[in-house]
Amino acid sequence: MKIGILGSGNIGGSLGRLWAKAGHEICFASRNPDKLAPLVAQAGAGARAGTLDEATAFAEVILEALPFSATMKLSAEALAGKALISAANYYPPRDGEVDLGGLSQTEALARRLPRTTLVKAFNMMFATEMEALANGQGTPGRAIFLAGDDADAKSIAARLIETAHFVPIDAGPLRNGRYFENGAPLYAKLWDAETAKAELAALEAKA
Ligand SMILES: NC(=O)c1ccc[n+]([C@@H]2O[C@H](COP(=O)([O-])OP(=O)(O)OC[C@H]3O[C@@H](n4cnc5c(N)ncnc54)[C@H](OP(=O)(O)O)[C@@H]3O)[C@@H](O)[C@H]2O)c1
Repeated sequence: MKIGILGSGNIGGSLGRLWAKAGHEICFASRNPDKLAPLVAQAGAGARAGTLDEATAFAEVILEALPFSATMKLSAEALAGKALISAANYYPPRDGEVDLGGLSQTEALARRLPRTTLVKAFNMMFATEMEALANGQGTPGRAIFLAGDDADAKSIAARLIETAHFVPIDAGPLRNGRYFENGAPLYAKLWDAETAKAELAALEAKA
């Protein structure tokens, strides 16, 4: 699969390396693609670097791992018709003031990108876990929640979660992304699948 990665830092760099190793074609994007030469070399065959526009045009599926303020400025036009996995979290000290319009981060992004098929995933997991797995270390089998409204896009995201050596836990529709945004009860947890499912069920029972 052709995967475009918008934001090739801690999260995007590690996931791209894991997916390249599994045989996917990766276009790592940067505002300055030349600086990604070491990452491209590390990822190996099937990896390249490009601008954000080039990676978007290249991709069958896109991972965005940008500061949330940059995510909220992505071009709705360029992303129309694309499947987008969103890993960003909103940290006001880093991102500044972003108007969410009273919505969750996930729903505010969906409103910004009405013609994009959005899946929320990877945002609740530490980048250090992904980096360790990309380096052939770490602990495989930890749970990652995903939420989305499109079954096909969720299925792709679930497969990419598995390819990165995590276990996908379907948290339901996109609006349930709020359960695992930063500060929410399911955020930043190193759970196995059983624990994650039990915690999700307990949260839903209270909702
Ligand atoms: N680190 C974690 O443990 C973790 C865990 C879960 C989720 N997250 C979230 O995932 C996102 C990425 O985190 P990260 O730790 O991977 O960050 P990071 O290492 O700083 O990588 C983000 C990349 O975004 C690009 N970028 C920065 N500002 C930009 C702008 N204004 N416009 C376009 N591109 C810009 C930069 O690439 P260039 O300079 O090459 O363009 C940078 O390498 C954040 O929203 C973060 O909150 C992080």
